[in-house]
Amino acid sequence: MALTGAKPSGVIGHRQSALSLNMLRVDVCKGMAVGGFLFYLIYIMLSNNSWVASSPLFTSLVFKYRRIESRTTTNISHIVFGIAGSANTWKNKRPYIESWWRPNITRGFLWLDRAPKEHLPWPSSSPPFRISQDIKRFHDYNNHAMPFAIRMARVILESFREEKEDVRWYVMADDDTVLFVDNLVDVLAKYDHNKYYYIGENSECVKSNFDYSFQMAFGGGGYALSFPLAKAMARNLDECLKRYPTLYGSDHIMQACISDFGVPLTRERGFHQIDLHGDLSGLLSAHPGVPMLSLHHLDHVDPIFPSMNRHEAVKLLMEASAVESSRVLQQTVCYHKQTNWSFSISWGYSAQIYEKIPPFKQSRETSADLHSMEKHWARYIHVQH
Ligand SMILES: *[C@@H]1O[C@H](CO)[C@@H](O)[C@H](O)[C@H]1NC(C)=O
Ligand SMILES: *[C@@H]1O[C@H](CO)[C@@H](O)[C@H](O)[C@H]1NC(C)=O
Ligand SMILES: *[C@@H]1O[C@H](CO)[C@@H](O)[C@H](O)[C@H]1NC(C)=O
Repeated sequence: MALTGAKPSGVIGHRQSALSLNMLRVDVCKGMAVGGFLFYLIYIMLSNNSWVASSPLFTSLVFKYRRIESRTTTNISHIVFGIAGSANTWKNKRPYIESWWRPNITRGFLWLDRAPKEHLPWPSSSPPFRISQDIKRFHDYNNHAMPFAIRMARVILESFREEKEDVRWYVMADDDTVLFVDNLVDVLAKYDHNKYYYIGENSECVKSNFDYSFQMAFGGGGYALSFPLAKAMARNLDECLKRYPTLYGSDHIMQACISDFGVPLTRERGFHQIDLHGDLSGLLSAHPGVPMLSLHHLDHVDPIFPSMNRHEAVKLLMEASAVESSRVLQQTVCYHKQTNWSFSISWGYSAQIYEKIPPFKQSRETSADLHSMEKHWARYIHVQH
């Protein structure tokens, strides 16, 4: 028994020594490889040789580094906001801009048509301003119904020139766009910023989409361009402006130019152009189950909360958003069977009680049930157009 026991252990011992010899060889090789690699890196750092820049190994290392860098999650510092404004209207739009802007956290600029002399010193609570370049040279191509369309379209180009260090996304917005920044970060983080992306949403109104384009990101709702797309636009926009001298506004020009690159619109339903009028409570109480990204044209609709003015109402919604942005305006429906009541909660916005339980056909699939529920609820929820 002892012998049979000893034999295998001897075999194992032999194997172990062979193994450690192999490991030693591997270690020596590794050491040489690491040493050689370090030497190569030091050489690259100290060397001024021009061939280094074109060395394939160096290029692939840099490429790999960039790939690793870009795999980190997108955060607020990777986004540059380009807000198209005007010195004359800034005072009225200021509460909307400042409702979402975070001084020293959000990056970007408010692009004005002239120096805002009467508003100086410029408040640090507002985005820093820049003056748009003169566009007189485009005079022959400026047959747009919106007279400042070219200046607004060039906000992407001028923002790109101003800020490109560690930028992944450029988000264009109007001075009366209210953005939900944390949700925007979450949504943009889903996409690969190294690819060409044009992300936004068309209008809630069929007529607006019919007049401009169903494949267009409406500018007031805000839209995002990935870094490579913004770069391509910055290079080509001035030429493109000459190709489309008659489109209505800057967002339509952008859509045409981006479309020329073969980049389609990626739709995110949380952007809201709001071409609606009057009472928005129907829309805001039954928002699609996606993160809320923006509201626009709030001067053209009733205050979103009754019994306060428009600016106070936005501030209140932003207070809810500050607690938990991802939940804001998300709808929950529940039932109290004993009384046959239904409750619809739109988080941070409204709670509604209906003295009914919508009738469901039990045999249907869940999605069909949701569909019939939507149809049923549409009767109770009044959306004004
Ligand atoms: C954002 O991510 C970068 C890495 O890509 C990091 O250096 C930076 O500190 C982050 N900023 C914030 C505000 O989280
Ligand atoms: C932003 O930073 C600057 C300097 O870095 C500082 O002077 C200013 O007070 C800061 N603003 C706010 C609102 O924190
Ligand atoms: C609730 O609705 C059901 C089905 O319509 C009905 O049978 C029941 O009596 C109702 N209960 C109350 C409390 O109204």
